[in-house]
Amino acid sequence: MYLKLEFANPGGSVKDRPALRMVQDALADGRLTEGRILIDSTSGNTGVAYSLIGAALGIPVQLVMPKNVTKARKDITQAFGTELIYSDPMEGSDGAIRLVREIVAKDPDKYFYPDQYSNPSNPLAHYDGTGVEILDALGDRITHFVSGLGTSGTVMGTTRRLHEHPRKIRCLALEPAEALHGLEGLKHMASSIVPPIYDPSVPDEIITVTTEEGWDMSDRLAAEEGLFVGHSTGANVFAALRIAEDLHAKKLPGCVVTIACDRGDRYFAPMKWEKKYVW
Ligand SMILES: Cc1ncc(COP(=O)(O)O)c(C=O)c1O
Repeated sequence: MYLKLEFANPGGSVKDRPALRMVQDALADGRLTEGRILIDSTSGNTGVAYSLIGAALGIPVQLVMPKNVTKARKDITQAFGTELIYSDPMEGSDGAIRLVREIVAKDPDKYFYPDQYSNPSNPLAHYDGTGVEILDALGDRITHFVSGLGTSGTVMGTTRRLHEHPRKIRCLALEPAEALHGLEGLKHMASSIVPPIYDPSVPDEIITVTTEEGWDMSDRLAAEEGLFVGHSTGANVFAALRIAEDLHAKKLPGCVVTIACDRGDRYFAPMKWEKKYVW
């Protein structure tokens, strides 16, 4: 089993690649011109990535996020000079998406709205980056790839690249088992606004992982491997282990690859699903 440590990117997560690619592609084709504000809805890692890229390139950034996101999230993005706009916490990330659409619709020329959920540059970053790097590192050895669905950019782009390999690589997507879940960054598709970049026919199989399974695996990775990772990474590793165990039971050889999306220190503050949290 191999875990690709995407938390080693400068912004600390798997989202640096798509954020940079969305900005670069928009600068190249004129959607992002001087003076325009980059605005998007993200409570998390894409927001950090936009913020650091915006600061480095002199692009003003505004982020719409549910008011109840952790203080750490707000502090990190604001440290780069990003302006925050809060949406209704009861409406979750879908509420933030609705609000950013309203803001942009009122004054479209003022903004560049990358919209990571529908922007083809998001999966392309993984097609040209993540997927290529996995093949460069493991080449013919990899037999399985599994990763969680958020915007679905990681799974779409990486899977498309791995499927081009001459030998069949089985690529699985995972989603939270419950609609109300604690696997931050991942989407329960049946109860969410489905991202336009998401094509359920791309992965070979779609599996589910419960919040508890993901959280317990994050704890184990810290305690047993020295890897302090976020809960979506716990879910990814849980799924990868399940695939490996299945191969082992069938006495089949295999090489399973998954992604470490971010670090655990992003999640220190209480999360909305914790009972003690006051909304
Ligand atoms: C912590 C975390 N895990 C997983 C994902 C899912 O990645 P993707 O949006 O590429 O599906 C994200 C994306 O926002 C994330 O922030």
